[in-house]
Amino acid sequence: PQGATVQKFAELLAVGPNEVIKRLFMLGNVLTLTQSMNDELIELVADDMGRKVRVVSPEEEFTVVYHDSDDELKPRPPVVTVMGHVDHGKTSLLDAIRDTGVAAGEAGGITQHIGASVVTVGSRKITFIDTPGHEAFTAMRARGAQVTDIIVLVVAADDGVMPQTIEAINHARAANVPIVVAVNKIDKPGANADRVRQELTTYEVVPEEWGGANMFVEVSAKKRLHIDDLLETILLQADVLELRANPDALASGFVIEANLDKGRGPVATVLVQRGTLKPGDVLVAGTSYGRVRALIDPHGAHIDSAIPASPAEVLGLSSVPVAGDEFRVFEDERDARRLAEERALRERLTAQDAKTHTSLTDLFGRI
Ligand code: GTP
Ligand code: MG
Repeated sequence: PQGATVQKFAELLAVGPNEVIKRLFMLGNVLTLTQSMNDELIELVADDMGRKVRVVSPEEEFTVVYHDSDDELKPRPPVVTVMGHVDHGKTSLLDAIRDTGVAAGEAGGITQHIGASVVTVGSRKITFIDTPGHEAFTAMRARGAQVTDIIVLVVAADDGVMPQTIEAINHARAANVPIVVAVNKIDKPGANADRVRQELTTYEVVPEEWGGANMFVEVSAKKRLHIDDLLETILLQADVLELRANPDALASGFVIEANLDKGRGPVATVLVQRGTLKPGDVLVAGTSYGRVRALIDPHGAHIDSAIPASPAEVLGLSSVPVAGDEFRVFEDERDARRLAEERALRERLTAQDAKTHTSLTDLFGRI
């Protein structure tokens, strides 16, 4: 961080605060525990103590890739995205899945106030991202966001492989995410699940029973057939992936969707990927920043923490971030603010630059 209090500096270097105050004094600075040292002073004192420090900008801090040690990593639920061709039954399938949660009497099996829902299967959870919309998904991937762990590819058994089926397969490939195929509408008279299997082999999506790598489940969203099988299969696939995350860190993840709410102001639905998000945390997402005023789960309940793989609505941001923006919690509100403002300024300058350019071209055009 840029600048730090004497206390923070001592913490970071794991030395007694009195030691720091003494050094500062000898260098001609009288500072108390809670006063700030600027970057120059930080480097000077560190150097005086025979320590090498490098002050990084908030932007640099934002791009740090964390490497959690093995014992910091704890099992986490899978994040699943449902994709497929128009009208093949994605929404119906999600409805059926939520119903299953209710039918099984799970406390909090369901709901989607927001663009994500959490389904409970026995003692385990699955996070579904409901409305990835190919666009948001592409935006997230373009930013290198690995948002989803598993893609459930819905293919209607009476219609077979269609353009958006192939598009979804390409998405999964590019993101290196395993595909679980849900062959849907098997209740329909013209349904032919084997034809779907056959057609998909062309795109290297091959059922396990044919020696391939993909799990297939035949379902009917409408008749609620084999929905439990599908959930079990998703969990089996998740087991193979051994999904883990460090919950004991400052939270980071992605914005799934965001909008301006009349009464509540900017509202962002985020997916926590690492750490634990709590009310009071200060976060940056794109050019937006703020202190989390409230954290709301997919059921609309206020919560006091969101762990990895949890979706949550965040209230208290300065502006509306963009779906696909990475978010990160900062220890220091000033760093968060500075980073967001720097980014906003850069955006404005770029926009202005583009404008100046056009007007010059216009001008020369007229001459
Ligand atoms: P888009 O969001 O437009 O891409 O469609 P979708 O993939 O979400 O499909 P949706 O769930 O809206 O279903 C499309 C139509 O198929 C609806 O009329 C559903 O009732 C019907 N449908 C979905 N699943 C089944 C099924 O298992 N069996 C039958 N017979 N009809 C189904
Ligand atoms: Mg739909």
